[in-house]
Amino acid sequence: MGNVAVRFCSKTKSGNTKRIAIAIAEGADVKAISISDEPKLSEKVDVLFLGGAPYANIMAPELKKYAESLTPETVGKVVLFTTSNWSRRTVKALRKMLKEKGIEVAGKYFYAQVFNIAGRLDAARKFGEKMKA
Ligand SMILES: Cc1cc2nc3c(=O)[nH]c(=O)nc-3n(C[C@H](O)[C@H](O)[C@H](O)COP(=O)(O)O)c2cc1C
Repeated sequence: MGNVAVRFCSKTKSGNTKRIAIAIAEGADVKAISISDEPKLSEKVDVLFLGGAPYANIMAPELKKYAESLTPETVGKVVLFTTSNWSRRTVKALRKMLKEKGIEVAGKYFYAQVFNIAGRLDAARKFGEKMKA
């Protein structure tokens, strides 16, 4: 197994994306770290789980900035996850941005709807375990 990292951007008090990030990280056997605590990826990773959410149709500017800072030299593959009321646009936008930078993005991503975060934690753990390879 290579080097795995989980990074997330979570803004509301409920911390929906954070809860999913922690479950994915448990499955992948690593720590979930907020991009506000570590605004730059400090080491080279083979698999980077990266998640965020839409706020009034757009992802948080800090998440956009974070994704823009990634390079194919430092990240082998990105696996995306998102939470929202209904939209999966954060995944679509990140995928487009990262692919344009020449970074591989896994076809599979994880989605959890705001009213079913607790019900998705187990699936998130399994996703982390499966996709870390
Ligand atoms: C100000 C605000 C705007 C939002 N706009 C959208 C939106 O445009 N589309 C959507 O599907 N969800 C929207 N949501 C729901 C959030 O994406 C959802 O609550 C998400 O889980 C928040 O993640 P967090 O708790 O990690 O910050 C919005 C939430 C807030 C607070």
